Amino acid sequence: MTNIDQFKKMQDSNSKISVVTCYDYWSAKIIDQSNIDAILVGDSATMVMHGFGSTTNANIEMMEFHVAAVRRGIKNKFIIADLPFLAHRKGKKWLMNAVDRLIKAGANSVKIEGAGDSLKAISHVVNSGVPVMGHIGLTPQSINQLGGFKVQGKEDKSSERLIKEAKDLEQSGVFAIVLELVPESLAEKITESINIPTIGIGAGNKTSGQVLVLQDLLGMDNEFNPKFLKKYLDGFSLITEALNSYDNDVKSQVFPSKAESY
Ligand code: KIV
Repeated sequence: MTNIDQFKKMQDSNSKISVVTCYDYWSAKIIDQSNIDAILVGDSATMVMHGFGSTTNANIEMMEFHVAAVRRGIKNKFIIADLPFLAHRKGKKWLMNAVDRLIKAGANSVKIEGAGDSLKAISHVVNSGVPVMGHIGLTPQSINQLGGFKVQGKEDKSSERLIKEAKDLEQSGVFAIVLELVPESLAEKITESINIPTIGIGAGNKTSGQVLVLQDLLGMDNEFNPKFLKKYLDGFSLITEALNSYDNDVKSQVFPSKAESY
């Protein structure tokens, strides 16, 4: 995947779009060799890579640093970068400086959370020639207002609001929308009511594609087991075993052997 047209083409041909997060050079090199369609340098980096409790600790320096590292490992894939907490709420100058820094660091597009009051900022970025991905449902940057990582749009009123937000985002020119933690039936309704692709996380399988955090799908955190997550590897156990084998070899003087010595 090299551009946003590919997202639309895949949606139109009913071919599901796969997206994973990535924050660093070495995993970027692996993803680059895989069949994954696109990469999100998510502000979840604050939690996954830096150990913070929420994404509100992301800032532009952190995001720029991760985008640049990922870009150095990626030759051919489309990179979406998260605009960090409040970057689109601090005035146009601040917003466009943040967008500029992410694009110059190597992103092909930016993701902006929310709709409503944020639509003006979103259209401004789109009209400046930068593709924008929307993000509604559970919007982690608003976690303190949402009161936790909970499924959104379960009641009629909130589901109607999310359908409206998706339509407004489409009008604002976003090329795709992330739907996070919403009931599958609502994700289906939203997907059917707009003409741009939806990318789900915890939103069932009726969306145009899926996104997962790389470390989550690789099972790196044995204490993180939300219902929506499928682990494709028991990375935590495999890495622990590898580290313990190394430790054992060092202590028993099996490593380095003659083969690994000069
Ligand atoms: O930051 C992130 O990783 C995200 C995904 C969960 C969609 O926004």
